[in-house]
Amino acid sequence: MLEDVVGLLRCPHCAAELARRESAVGCANGHSFDVARQGYASLLHGDAQTGTADTREMIEAREAFLHAGHYEAAADLLATECAGAVAAVPGGAIVDVGAGTAYYLARVLDRLPRRVGLALDLSKHALRRAAKAHPRIGAVACDAWRALPVRTGVAAVVMSVFSPRNAAEMRRVLGPGGALLLLTPTPRHLAELIPALGLLSVGERKEERLEEQLGPYFELIRRGEHEWVMVLGRADVEHLVGMGPSARHIDPARLREGVGRLPEPVTVTASVAVSVFRGL
Ligand SMILES: C[S@@+](CC[C@H](N)C(=O)[O-])C[C@H]1O[C@@H](n2cnc3c(N)ncnc32)[C@H](O)[C@@H]1O
Ligand SMILES: [Zn+2]
Repeated sequence: MLEDVVGLLRCPHCAAELARRESAVGCANGHSFDVARQGYASLLHGDAQTGTADTREMIEAREAFLHAGHYEAAADLLATECAGAVAAVPGGAIVDVGAGTAYYLARVLDRLPRRVGLALDLSKHALRRAAKAHPRIGAVACDAWRALPVRTGVAAVVMSVFSPRNAAEMRRVLGPGGALLLLTPTPRHLAELIPALGLLSVGERKEERLEEQLGPYFELIRRGEHEWVMVLGRADVEHLVGMGPSARHIDPARLREGVGRLPEPVTVTASVAVSVFRGL
């Protein structure tokens, strides 16, 4: 619930503490922010650009795909890493940047009965679901490329799963002894579907770019690659494409045609890297 995380938040305008007030949250300097009927707070700046937020269709596709269990292995990996990372950190929240529907954050909290989770995302369609994904999740709309509306040092773990990474801000909100957990696709992720459907592929330089982004703020402790085979029907494939970056680029008619030519079911490789970093 939002009440669980209000104490972790700060005003996006003046960085003062926020408190819950009827249907809003506000700071002592008179800045006030709406809390949506669905339970998430909107801490976006008035001039926020929300163009990269997942659309309603993308979120519906994501929800359908995740709830079919095809990425359950990824959720288990994250929950295990997270439980290990917080064992030595007595307090602090789990902050998920670009949390989407908070599918992963909910699985992580199931493993950590005394922690609260803060789901940050730019998409109201994602946040409506994130706010209800777990009793100990609070959901907040913000732009991860700007200063996060989160107090300094309140996180035991910051996680980012297939999401935007603002290294400086992720470091700022991480408390002493905390860890940054990243889940990223490897170049083999969805390898069977990329040529068949003309999907965007993971850039060859992605790993280098990741190191450049994080380098000044974090030190890599451990990185493991994990693969599993998914057996997908045509509807699963449509959801998988519809929830990802290709959804914005691919022509729906061409996609339907491509999906129609796939064997059913089709076996598809999921290949991800889980990386654990400590703050510098
Ligand atoms: C590929 S999805 C991953 C969602 C979730 N972590 C998961 O794996 O299910 C990327 C998410 O980042 C969010 N997003 C995009 N731009 C953002 C921004 N500038 N600030 C915060 N979230 C953003 C999208 O709305 C979307 O929910
Ligand atoms: Zn303020």
